[in-house]
Amino acid sequence: MSTFAAIDIGATKVAVIIAEIDDSGGPRLAGIGTATNRGLSKGHVVDTESTAKAVAEAIRKAESMASRKVSDLTVAISGDAIQSSPSRGLVPILNPGQTITREDVHRVINHSKQTPLPEDRELILAVPRSYRVDGRSGVVKPVGMSGQRLEAETLLVTAPTVQLDGFTECVQQAGFEVESWMPKALASGEAVTKPGDREAGVAVVDIGGDATDVAVYLDGSVVHLQTLPVGSQHITKDISVLLKTSIAEAERLKLDAGACGKVAEDEAVYVEQSGTTQRRPFERRVLAEIVTARAKEMICMALDAIEDAVPLSRLRSGLVLTGGGSQLTGLSELAQSLAKGTPVRIGFPEPFPGLGDALAGPEFATSAGLLRFGVRLRDQEGVAAETGDLRKLIKSFGSIFSTKGREDGN
Ligand SMILES: Nc1ncnc2c1ncn2[C@@H]1O[C@H](COP(=O)(O)OP(=O)(O)O)[C@@H](O)[C@H]1O
Ligand SMILES: [Mg+2]
Repeated sequence: MSTFAAIDIGATKVAVIIAEIDDSGGPRLAGIGTATNRGLSKGHVVDTESTAKAVAEAIRKAESMASRKVSDLTVAISGDAIQSSPSRGLVPILNPGQTITREDVHRVINHSKQTPLPEDRELILAVPRSYRVDGRSGVVKPVGMSGQRLEAETLLVTAPTVQLDGFTECVQQAGFEVESWMPKALASGEAVTKPGDREAGVAVVDIGGDATDVAVYLDGSVVHLQTLPVGSQHITKDISVLLKTSIAEAERLKLDAGACGKVAEDEAVYVEQSGTTQRRPFERRVLAEIVTARAKEMICMALDAIEDAVPLSRLRSGLVLTGGGSQLTGLSELAQSLAKGTPVRIGFPEPFPGLGDALAGPEFATSAGLLRFGVRLRDQEGVAAETGDLRKLIKSFGSIFSTKGREDGN
């Protein structure tokens, strides 16, 4: 039995999950904790102190629910500076029986990581996509097969060092350590799709507070990751500006009465405008127009990002909207009307054994995926954990070889 802990530091909330991993590798959700957060902007920490406080609060709550302490966490990050690129590794199988072992899989993935990186970026994750044994392609699990040569196709994900340092600082200030990193798009993508969807082709769009994370899958593996700088808070801000209300009142209006598309002509909403205390009636239709305009822009940006990677017609399992922002009334119908016949649905995370439906809402897609994918990477491939070591290794190489001469020496 081991413990897995992960944290989703979002623009509106921090969510922590703690799970037990039994010997069969299946995760059992033991605790969750959330705290509101305002210390993030566009995927970067802009207020370390308040984010560290939110991190500490969410971890404390999850620890108390799970009745256990944690020290190291997998941290979900996003942002338009996170980049992914395909890579390949190749190793000979050296053991006498020429049966492929887990170590061989680790070696081939590590080999795929040996590509030079710019000074200001770090590798955060190498995701295995498919393997080849003696030239035979399409191998999903090579362990136990026999052959002389193992090849792997991976997706290498990198992030700016300065962004990672910002998150590390918050986690450390809260009294914890970063064990590994996970792009939010990948976590959410795993949470709301099944292997069959990823085989058929699917795009996952996680609409958060100030950002939208996109992951595109084809033939069973991820082909594209992207973060767009728009989220559901932009809708709130539009309402606040156009109806002259506080942000809190605009958020209330969005949640209670906001909708995409047509609403009944004669419906009224009562709005408390700034500087007044009396609520005054407005046509709900006006609110819907404001919401629809921004929602349409967000969906079109997501569709453009997806189509830059693959034609929509290749996504036979369609488009899955998730994240807190996907709960907007009428959003999936709006997306459906823009998606050129590609099916659209709202993605809810599959339940875990343990806390029942505690992570069932779309706003917990990232957390649920952190658990599902994080555990798989850690236990089956050992890749995520190694990436952490590799980060230290690259840093030490950096300090030895860098012509600029890093001072920190670690
Ligand atoms: N029922 C709802 N209808 C519309 N928007 C919602 C609803 N519930 C949550 N949201 C919006 O979702 C956003 C938060 O999504 P979430 O995925 O939790 O964000 P983050 O991960 O960025 O913290 C907020 O802007 C919130 O207003
Ligand atoms: Mg989120």
